[in-house]
Amino acid sequence: MRILSGVQSSGKLHLGNYFGAIKQFIELQDEGEALYFIANLHAMTTVRDGARMRGLTLDAALDFLALGLDPKKATLFRQSDIPEVTELFWYLSAVAPMGLLERAHSYKDKVAKGISSDIGLFTYPVLMAADILLYGSDVVPVGKDQVQHVEMTRDIATKFNLAYVPGYDPKRDENPKTRKIEGILRLPTARVQDQTASVPGVDGQKMSKSYDNTIDLFADDAVTKKKVMSIKSDSTPMESAKDPNANSIHALLSLFANETDLAEINRTYREGGKGYGHYKIQLLDLFHAYFDPARARRKELEGDLAHVESVLKDGAERARKTAGPIIEQCRLAVGMK
Ligand code: ADP
Ligand code: TRP
Repeated sequence: MRILSGVQSSGKLHLGNYFGAIKQFIELQDEGEALYFIANLHAMTTVRDGARMRGLTLDAALDFLALGLDPKKATLFRQSDIPEVTELFWYLSAVAPMGLLERAHSYKDKVAKGISSDIGLFTYPVLMAADILLYGSDVVPVGKDQVQHVEMTRDIATKFNLAYVPGYDPKRDENPKTRKIEGILRLPTARVQDQTASVPGVDGQKMSKSYDNTIDLFADDAVTKKKVMSIKSDSTPMESAKDPNANSIHALLSLFANETDLAEINRTYREGGKGYGHYKIQLLDLFHAYFDPARARRKELEGDLAHVESVLKDGAERARKTAGPIIEQCRLAVGMK
């Protein structure tokens, strides 16, 4: 099984990114051939400063390694180190219907939020399709908001296969025994982790760097504390029962708490007796118990950037080897060779 996913280098990692995406990536490195990349080309749709982009790209690599990505098990690389991805992007653009892209929720949401509707933002799902298809990926672990993009990838791959593989029938594309496909491009499947599919931010909306409501993984202790203490609650008195859905505290606690802790939290929510301040301190403690080892590892890695660079370089070489035969087949099919 080939597993592939990417994270945009467009800001600091937060709890939503971790529990919605990165945690699964790291677990999956033991289940198959995993490829993970830093989607710096995608990040260009929002980051327009070269020095900042370079810094954020390196940050993302540090984050991955600190959080437990093992470069011996998984291939970690920069999207932009693989020129074949922009080449495939163009081959796919030539078969991707406008209507398909116009239906993308993510595009519509971003434009609604005020991000300018550049061509790059519009064709973002086609570049994402190129990322996925270039390596013949089977499984794409993503957050819930990216599932539609993986479905679009399947549609675009089907279009390409229909256009360039004589007699291609999407219904009997793959031989279940040999796993051989009749098309050139393999249709991927999205994998979402349901319990944590949407992590709420400090204001109760979905946690997102664009809403300024995040709890970041690698912020200074004081900043983390301030963020946790700023979670929006209400004036339910300490002695009263509390509604776990009234704000994001209960959902955030549930990400970390083990079964016993959670049973106790649920009991006091039902019966009252603990104030929101108490739960926030508990959340902060759980956050540190969970992330402090990674936070320490990240500090160490910051002192050895040459190592990080060599991991990325080696990753890009491995990724290009995987991509080679697939892009070559595409070139032949479209008549560029
Ligand atoms: P942001 O919304 O902060 O810009 P991204 O869009 O860069 O985050 O998302 C990176 C990854 O993290 C994606 O796979 C996305 O689905 C996941 N993700 C982001 N925010 C959340 C959240 N609040 N809950 C669950 N997953 C999330
Ligand atoms: N669009 C994804 C996000 O914002 C990042 C991404 C780019 C990606 N290319 C990908 C994810 C390929 C999975 C597969 O989170």
